[in-house]
Amino acid sequence: MKHFINLDDLSSNDLNQIIDTAITLKKQYKAGEINETLKNKTLAMIFDKSSTRTRVSFEAGMAQLGGHAMFLSDRDIQLGRGEPTTDTAIVISSMVDAIMMRVSSHDDINTFAQHGSVPIINALSDESHPCQLLADMMTYKEHKGSIQGKTVAWIGDGNNMCHTYMQAAKAFGFTLNIATPEGYEPDQDFIDNYESHIQLFNNAEQACQNADLVVTDVWASMGQEAEQTKRELAFKDFQVTDELMQQANTNASFMHCLPAHRGEEVSAGVIDGKQSLVWDEAENRLHAQKSLLLYLLG
Ligand code: CP
Ligand code: NVA
Repeated sequence: MKHFINLDDLSSNDLNQIIDTAITLKKQYKAGEINETLKNKTLAMIFDKSSTRTRVSFEAGMAQLGGHAMFLSDRDIQLGRGEPTTDTAIVISSMVDAIMMRVSSHDDINTFAQHGSVPIINALSDESHPCQLLADMMTYKEHKGSIQGKTVAWIGDGNNMCHTYMQAAKAFGFTLNIATPEGYEPDQDFIDNYESHIQLFNNAEQACQNADLVVTDVWASMGQEAEQTKRELAFKDFQVTDELMQQANTNASFMHCLPAHRGEEVSAGVIDGKQSLVWDEAENRLHAQKSLLLYLLG
């Protein structure tokens, strides 16, 4: 049994295969072909944070594959009232075929993997967001071909998305330039683990030199709302603007996992402009995760 808790749970070969299958599944779906490989399978989806893309893509994806997805808000299940995570993992996994979790604490996902009996999928934690990277790497491949040997600039917070880009740099063979304000660097253990694939900057222009892809994310992630004003000040020189995109290679692409705040981490001109791939990136959550579900359950 395999889990998908971090990108490096899977080999580069398997990750690339999941992406290639996702591209095929997308074509088949758009051609109206029916694929009910997951008929009679159930995915439990535990959310203790908000979501648009993750919820819709997993729920629609399971339906399209002939299976069923069950939305479980932690406000509605006993977990939110203090039932132990271990007990919840044993019980839910005795009734479903896989569990997807979006939780504040990455440790809770590991606890489910230890105590549950079905594949566990990390659908965003405080530490990482591997499902998003499947969609991002698929989107790059569809538009530009292989990302191997390319340079990616991460602009903004050294957060869960940044951590997963660090893992992707190793898995997919690209260089990641990370530009953060001082004090907002990625976690030290990620820097130590991925140091040969990354370069750290405190300057966005420098990080964008030679970049083939520029990526950013919100300045205040879910759970950091109280820091919004402080962060707006700290990150004011880290907005992805047309001027910043001009520092990158001609025709460099722009990505953002969404939701986005125009006028904060990205200008409207960039996110709504020609270099932006954000709508395909969002749609590809569906196809990439269908491929992941087939890999884990098919
Ligand atoms: N990118 C992403 O995970 O979006 P949601 O928070 O809407 O699921
Ligand atoms: N870093 C963001 C990503 C949202 C998809 C957050 O954790 O809120």
